[in-house]
Amino acid sequence: MGRLDGKVAVITGAASGIGEAAARLFAREGASVVVADVQEARGKAVAAAIAAAGGRAVFARCDVARAADAQGAVDEAVRRFGGLDVLYANAGIELDKILTETSEEEWDRVQGVNLKGVFLCAKAAIPALQRRGGGAIVVTASVNGLTTEPKLAAYCASKGGAIMLVRSIAIDYGKDRIRANAVLPGWIETPMTTGFLATPEQRAATDALQPARRVGQPEDIARVAAFLASDEAAFMTGSAVVADGGLSSVLNGHRFG
Ligand code: NAI
Repeated sequence: MGRLDGKVAVITGAASGIGEAAARLFAREGASVVVADVQEARGKAVAAAIAAAGGRAVFARCDVARAADAQGAVDEAVRRFGGLDVLYANAGIELDKILTETSEEEWDRVQGVNLKGVFLCAKAAIPALQRRGGGAIVVTASVNGLTTEPKLAAYCASKGGAIMLVRSIAIDYGKDRIRANAVLPGWIETPMTTGFLATPEQRAATDALQPARRVGQPEDIARVAAFLASDEAAFMTGSAVVADGGLSSVLNGHRFG
C-alpha cells in the first residue's frame, strides 16, 4: 500500500528538480500524476519514465502564469484520471537582483510564476477538490519567504506572498475539507542552483554553511511534499514547513557586508 494510493495529483514544475522528484515519488506512493510544466520534452520524459516504472502519469503543457493553462492541467487530471485530490504547486523561478536593478517586466514575471501561478492553479483546482469532498494543496515556497538574503528582492516577496496565500486558502476552504500547506526548502541541488555549486570550492563552502553539512537533494523536499499531500498530515493545514538542513537558522548572518 502506498501513502497516496488512489489519489490523483497535479504537480507543476514537474519536469525538473524538486517537482520531478515529487512526480516520481508520488507515483511510487500510488498516485496518478499530471506532470505539468512549460518544458515539454523534459516533462514528457518524466511522465514516460514513471509509466515505464509501472506508475501512472501524463504530461500537460502548462504555464502556471496563464489561467487557461492552469485550468487545462486540472482538466487533464479529471479527464485522464477521473478527478483531483492533490495540487502540488511547485513551479518557480529565481531572480538574483536588488530592487533597483529589477525591471518591471522581471518583477511581473517572478510574481507571475511564483505567486500568481499559485493563485491560478489553486483557483482551478479548488472546485475539482470540492467535487471530491476535499483534498490537499501543497505549495513550494522557500525559506526566503520567511528570511531574506541579499539580491533576492522579487523572489523573497513572491515566496512570502505564497506562504500567506496558503494560509488564506487553509482558513477559507477548511470547511470543504481542503488542507493547504507550504514546504519551505533551503538550498537544494537542482538546475536552479547548480550554477552556484560549479567548483569544488563553492560546493565545499556551501555544504559547510548548512547545519546539516550538505545541501539538500530534490528527494528531501519531495518526501515532505508527499507527507503533506497524504492523509498522514490530516491535522496539518496553514503550515509553513521548513525543510532546509538548518539553513534558515544561520541565513541572516551570511553574505552581508
Ligand atoms: P528547477 O528549475 O529545477 O525546476 C523548476 C521547474 O519549474 C522547471 O521544470 C521549470 O520548467 C518549471 N517552470 C518554470 N516556470 C514555469 C511556469 N511558468 N509554468 C510551469 N512550469 C514552470 O528548480 P527547483 O529548484 O526544482 O525549483 C522548484 C521550486 O522550489 C521553485 O518554486 C523554487 O522557487 C523552489 N525552491 C528551490 C530551492 C532550491 O534551492 N533549489 C530553494 C527554495 C525553494
